[in-house]
Amino acid sequence: MSRPALLAGLSGWLPPIVVDNAEILRHLDSTEQWITQRTGIHRRHRAEPGTATSDLAIRAAAPLVAAARGPIDAVVVATMTPDRQCPATAPVVATGLGLTGAAAWDVANACTGFVYGLATVTAMISAGVLNRVLLIGAETMSAVLDRSDRGTAMIFGDGAGAALLEAGRPGDAPSFGPFDLGSDGTRPGLVAIPAGGSSDPDGEDRCIRMEGPSVYRSAVEKMTDSAQLAAKAADWSVADVDWFVAHQANARILDAVADRLDIPPARRFVNVDRVGNTSGASVPLALADLATSRRARAGDKVLITSFGAGLTWASTTLTWPEGL
Ligand code: UT7
Repeated sequence: MSRPALLAGLSGWLPPIVVDNAEILRHLDSTEQWITQRTGIHRRHRAEPGTATSDLAIRAAAPLVAAARGPIDAVVVATMTPDRQCPATAPVVATGLGLTGAAAWDVANACTGFVYGLATVTAMISAGVLNRVLLIGAETMSAVLDRSDRGTAMIFGDGAGAALLEAGRPGDAPSFGPFDLGSDGTRPGLVAIPAGGSSDPDGEDRCIRMEGPSVYRSAVEKMTDSAQLAAKAADWSVADVDWFVAHQANARILDAVADRLDIPPARRFVNVDRVGNTSGASVPLALADLATSRRARAGDKVLITSFGAGLTWASTTLTWPEGL
């Protein structure tokens, strides 16, 4: 009998520098009104100079390591802002957490990396490959941000969120339902860091660029479809969902998706106003914030969806565990 993967803990970390819209406007040709109306973002956090993504990941995950009920045998980091192009960031994080020797790898799928990681890790736990895993979404978006770019500068923020997953006993109900995963690589430049990879090793543009309106339309369409497919695969009706936790891309996108799914505002979890779009850290930070808010109760139905560079999308369902 396959073993269920259980969500045993959630934790988030935001670096201490808070960047409000007034600060953004020191470098950007825009207005406070445009930023709040078009994105719903009022502030975001920024890592101090000299802080790497591994530092954020370690801060986010440390409380889960301290609380783990047994040995952790893998550390997985979802990030599009790794410490270096090589090696992966996860081994550095594992060692920083006192877990040298653990399996460690990165998921390079930008905003959907955490949910893709969840699909992989829960399957590996169910198959008996791993017993207890730290999955961390961490981003230092400030390292790849052009502060004068009107398409990105006001959106992205730094942060990290972590989840501890462990094998339950046969017969326990798994925390996560089936996954809906997908991609469309026909236009990789829609959200991209253009240079520095093998397709353009000598190019100079190492900042994130985004064709906002096209990405916006795809985000709404794909997150709506994918969330519906994940709910259906779990045999849930979207009407029964207690919490809708979507990648915090932009408040208007969240509302457009939730409106199409007919999920009322009180059931939409939103923290994009306070943290901005933190890419791979967005979903775990939102889940950790939901846990901290004490608003979710054991047994609550949580519908999770994400969308981003690639393009890629990923959704699943979570039955809120006891004691989180
Ligand atoms: O996390 C990965 C997934 N990411 C996303 O899903 C994000 C997707 N996209 C977005 O969030 C939005 O497209 C943006 C927030 C980036 C842009 O909002 P938008 O409503 O799509 O604006 P737009 O680019 O269509 O521009 C509307 C107007 C234009 O002016 P005109 O032509 O109407 O006169 C732009 O020139 O707003 C202007 N504009 C700005 N004005 C002030 C564009 N950017 C700015 C700006 N400040 N930063």
